[in-house]
Amino acid sequence: MVENVARLTPTPRMTPFIEVSGLEKRYDTRNGPINAIEKVSFSVSKGEFISIVGPSGCGKSTLMKMIGKLLQPTSGSIRFHGLPAGADSPDLGMVFQDAVLLPWRTVFQNVCLPIEVMGLERAKYERRARELIELVGLKGFENKYPSELSGGMQQRTSIARALVSDPSLLLMDEPFGALDALTRETMTQELQRIWMESKKTVLFITHSIPESVLLSDRVVVMSARPSKVQEIIDIDLPRPRQLTDTTSAAFGKYVSHIRGLLSATTEL
Ligand SMILES: Nc1ncnc2c1ncn2[C@@H]1O[C@H](COP(=O)(O)OP(=O)(O)OP(=O)(O)O)[C@@H](O)[C@H]1O
Ligand SMILES: [Mg+2]
Repeated sequence: MVENVARLTPTPRMTPFIEVSGLEKRYDTRNGPINAIEKVSFSVSKGEFISIVGPSGCGKSTLMKMIGKLLQPTSGSIRFHGLPAGADSPDLGMVFQDAVLLPWRTVFQNVCLPIEVMGLERAKYERRARELIELVGLKGFENKYPSELSGGMQQRTSIARALVSDPSLLLMDEPFGALDALTRETMTQELQRIWMESKKTVLFITHSIPESVLLSDRVVVMSARPSKVQEIIDIDLPRPRQLTDTTSAAFGKYVSHIRGLLSATTEL
């Protein structure tokens, strides 16, 4: 336990925006049931940036898909509070672990997909689509098809697609995994800027411990499968956080504490 750095229970907050309680997921496979996650509980306040870290296969993507209503939990619940009347889940943008682009649509058409699906005002949001394509470094590639792009370019297209409708909740599953180191650093800073400006609520899965510390208000550390929440760590560092901050002693303490938790749960 690192003094004054980690706490086992999150700080009491106002009514949570997302409340995950006793969530469990079992997959029934040909070879028998797999308990992916077991009794996971945590809550997220509006406007918070939360990272989820944990060993490969511990159920992070499963958890995110359940929050995005793409998968049904086996038991437990996910509640959204403070939504407009009639809404049972917030407007959300998702970035999946794989880019999941439509191969017959160009970069621009893929980014514009949510505009069509959600029936948003075309002129305004298409302008936003062009700005985001530039932001993710794909200006000049608007008319290319996914098969003509590298893996990192496809992933950047899917990040622009998730942001185009200006959703209040962003679910991001290892969004920077396919990017080269420099682009990854730039995108990390851009994401922090977008989040600080727009006050979106972000749930961010990453395998990079420094990335989770740099970006988050809190880091949820999961254990190996069947996974539980090991610890939730408040990251009490001033913002905006720069890449140069990653060399500070305070930053290093958070990183080594999380690394210690993960190495205790992972068989090496
Ligand atoms: N559709 C599925 N059917 C059966 N088992 C599944 C399915 N999806 C995931 N699993 C299993 O559930 C467990 C958790 O998978 P999940 O993809 O959520 O892990 P993860 O933490 O996202 O891993 P990674 O860090 O490698 O992306 C794994 O053991 C996986 O084999
Ligand atoms: Mg995953």
